[in-house]
Amino acid sequence: MIGELNHVAIAVPDLRKASLQYKDVFGADVSEPLALPEHGVTVVFVNLPNSKIELLHPLGEESSIKKFLDKNPAGGIHHLCFEVGDIMAASKKLLSKGHRILGSGKPRIGAHGKEVLFLHPKDNFGALIELEQK
Ligand code: CO
Repeated sequence: MIGELNHVAIAVPDLRKASLQYKDVFGADVSEPLALPEHGVTVVFVNLPNSKIELLHPLGEESSIKKFLDKNPAGGIHHLCFEVGDIMAASKKLLSKGHRILGSGKPRIGAHGKEVLFLHPKDNFGALIELEQK
């Protein structure tokens, strides 16, 4: 069901500092910050040859990233994103096995303009998993 690792998302307390580290110290290709108010985040994409890192910073008071940083003030790995060929089929299969899908349970449009779902970390050994329609 799952295909390529699309990205690893890291919540960071200082987006500028984190961007500069990936750009200047690690020598990676780093995007400009992109505000995604409907997801409560500002995101910077770090483009790697085989995947991406997303640096996430809270946008707005209701941001789930804000809550995450309250618990992890230095930042931390927030979620992994895997591509799937058929997000509705994947969702159906997971629900039939008792997995929980966060939010409304329906796919919504993610940072790359494609449908995404988030799976409950407690069903996945503590890791928040995002599935993205390939
Ligand atoms: Co993501």
